[in-house]
Amino acid sequence: MITSHSIAVIAGDGIGQEVVPAAIDCLNSVAAIYGLNLEYDHLDWGSDHYMRHGRMMPLDGLERLGRHEAVFLGAVGSPEIPDAETLWGLLIPIRREFQQYINLRPVKTLDGVASPLASKEPIDLLIVRENNEGEYSEIGGRMFRGLPQEAAVQETVFTRVGISRAAHFAARLAASRRGFLVSATKSNGIIHTMPFWDEVVAATAAEYPDVTLSSELIDALAAHLVLKPWSFDVIVASNLFGDILSDLGSALTGSIGVAPSANLNPERRFPSLFEPVHGSAPDIAGKGIANPLGQIWSGAMMLEHLGHSDAATHLQRAFEAALRDGAGTPDVGGSSTTDEFTREVVRRIEASPSHVTP
Ligand code: NAI
Ligand code: MG
Repeated sequence: MITSHSIAVIAGDGIGQEVVPAAIDCLNSVAAIYGLNLEYDHLDWGSDHYMRHGRMMPLDGLERLGRHEAVFLGAVGSPEIPDAETLWGLLIPIRREFQQYINLRPVKTLDGVASPLASKEPIDLLIVRENNEGEYSEIGGRMFRGLPQEAAVQETVFTRVGISRAAHFAARLAASRRGFLVSATKSNGIIHTMPFWDEVVAATAAEYPDVTLSSELIDALAAHLVLKPWSFDVIVASNLFGDILSDLGSALTGSIGVAPSANLNPERRFPSLFEPVHGSAPDIAGKGIANPLGQIWSGAMMLEHLGHSDAATHLQRAFEAALRDGAGTPDVGGSSTTDEFTREVVRRIEASPSHVTP
């Protein structure tokens, strides 16, 4: 088993600077128990870099990231810079260049985090968002700028390869779980790309005899997700639909501060990127109260991806136990600071027996 890993770290902006060091403390503590050597390359890219150099990352940024096995990202985004600049200057080029065509977002209730839903049935589902194409395309343009007849066109691009690899990934996951795959569609209104999405997803899912596929229109699916979230297992969705559903999912489980995500290149030809679902939260940045859990959980997903399921499980049990026993930042109804919560997780990592098989 490979035990040394090189990881590029971009803490980024706002609370990224607070939650990334917190998560690294937890990763180091679990790494020490499992004999892992995690080497971090800290990169000061993001909005400050943009202010100084006019770019979110250096010209050779992608090349430098490409030398690492994984990228651990906090968040980017600053009130002084248009969001399109920060997003298209860093995150989207990384996702595309490294063919991170899967965005995996677990949605799971945690003891100690109150859901806004009246029902207390546990939620445990995975959202597989297509991460490279679809509605997020740069094809299009604006005409007649500033004139009364001003117009904008944005093309959506779906490819057979793009849809089927996302559907394979989702079907494989469903087969390893309860076997229920739901595909988000809108083929009644969007009559070219969405029927194509449906056809390719159906043909792919048919290769998995243990998986039952159902297609749901995105509007009805959104309502279904609020009414009966516990009935879902794996949801596969296009870039835009998956983005929206995953914020909805994280709201259902209580706080956007706890939600993790992985941008995966499943073939491992390129580094994968692990980041919380939340952004840089300028409203609470610098106050020491950001919830580090989404970042810590993303770290657990990174350990899993690097081949260390035992260490990932150990970390996950530690933060679940900390929450269950009442530790938690204000967004989940607790009174811990970022540091206090992190120390509590580290204490539990160190206190619980390791899962190393002798
Ligand atoms: P946001 O996720 O940063 O914040 C939304 C709300 O949730 C805020 O009230 C914030 O205080 C709260 N929140 C978020 N994370 C939290 C945490 N860990 N603990 C406690 N409370 C938390 O989304 P918003 O405000 O729409 O965006 C702020 C900036 O972040 C923008 O510049 C946006 O473009 C950027 N952004 C970046 C992302 C990324 O780097 N992947 C993802 C989403 C937004
Ligand atoms: Mg989003």
